[in-house]
Amino acid sequence: MKLFDVYPINDITITKAKGSYVWDAAGEQYLDLYGGHAVISIGHTHPHYVQRVTDQLNKVGFYSNSIRIPLQEELAAKLGKVSGKEDYQLFLCNSGAEANENALKLASFFNGRKKIIAFTKGFHGRTSLAVAATDNPSIVAPVNQTNNVIFLPFNDEEALQACFRAQGSEISSVIIEGIQGVGGINVASVPFLQQIRHLCDEHGAVFIADSVQCGYGRTGKFFSHDFAGVNADIYTMAKGMGNGFPVAGIIIAPHIQAKHSMLGTTFGGNHLACAAALAVLEVIEQENLLNNAAEVGNYIMQQLKGISELKNVRGRGLMIGFDVPEELKDLKKNLLWKHKIFTGEAKPNVIRLLPSLALRKKDANEFIEAVKEEIAALVPTH
Ligand SMILES: Cc1ncc(COP(=O)(O)O)c(C=O)c1O
Repeated sequence: MKLFDVYPINDITITKAKGSYVWDAAGEQYLDLYGGHAVISIGHTHPHYVQRVTDQLNKVGFYSNSIRIPLQEELAAKLGKVSGKEDYQLFLCNSGAEANENALKLASFFNGRKKIIAFTKGFHGRTSLAVAATDNPSIVAPVNQTNNVIFLPFNDEEALQACFRAQGSEISSVIIEGIQGVGGINVASVPFLQQIRHLCDEHGAVFIADSVQCGYGRTGKFFSHDFAGVNADIYTMAKGMGNGFPVAGIIIAPHIQAKHSMLGTTFGGNHLACAAALAVLEVIEQENLLNNAAEVGNYIMQQLKGISELKNVRGRGLMIGFDVPEELKDLKKNLLWKHKIFTGEAKPNVIRLLPSLALRKKDANEFIEAVKEEIAALVPTH
């Protein structure tokens, strides 16, 4: 059987990984500033994580939500403490798209409405509602097309105001990434997030904070939306939550109440997934990784801003993007093949950094030096 060929890949096979480094089959070492699409949060093969997942596997790996799973309550308590959203309720699932799908559906159950406001360049996943709320027609199949999603320009307060004025009583939810990831590291402005909160309150709509990529401590705060000083009604999370183990969830404000069978899943919240997610939160807490993300992230951003060839350096914490001018279009490729550094990208010309939250300054310096060397090679006159 052949694989269904949907991924453009780099011809590298990773056989070993530790912290912020991975090794290929030939033993070559790479610095990982991408974490496999922002997934590696506490570092590859962290010993506490490996131990906790292994211990759990030796006890019980899986049983469904038809029995009591105390690990879920332990996880909810820990997540409440680390995120500061202690009065929220946790629903566990398996992927970012599924988290957003459940959040949009729950909002609609809650207020009985159908319309969703989403934003230009937003990405929310590939399942039916999540992809319908994603601003990329090329990944929306005809069957996913719906008139229920209204796309508005990102960070445009007037457009949002006008939309609520015209259709406020029909709006079920507003979904927004605190920092757009796939869209190219675009930071939602503080006044814009505050305005979403205000308009949702005024019109009975649900504020959904897609924190799948920008959440879980990546920006130095647990949720990047926290920079606005307002709470969303539902936060969706995935990626960094399991450090590679597929686990996702939504946390739900107390005014939204559960009914049996409203949401459901076979795999979500299984024993192994909870053990992985608990290990991640324990390490985040023990190693103070939110502070590290803020500190090392600021350092990288400052260094990058000092390199005049790179344009529009932006982001928060360890979610960083910058524009690469045409003459440096080979920068990302050369960082990988010549300097053995994984970075991410966003079309058409953005380099995206999404390393582990435990990235050290020393690793950051390795990257900065490689960028400088490569720019000197690519633009020799500078
Ligand atoms: C902001 C955001 N939301 C949702 C998703 C979908 O997550 P998943 O691929 O786990 O379904 C992604 C994935 O990149 C994302 O970046």
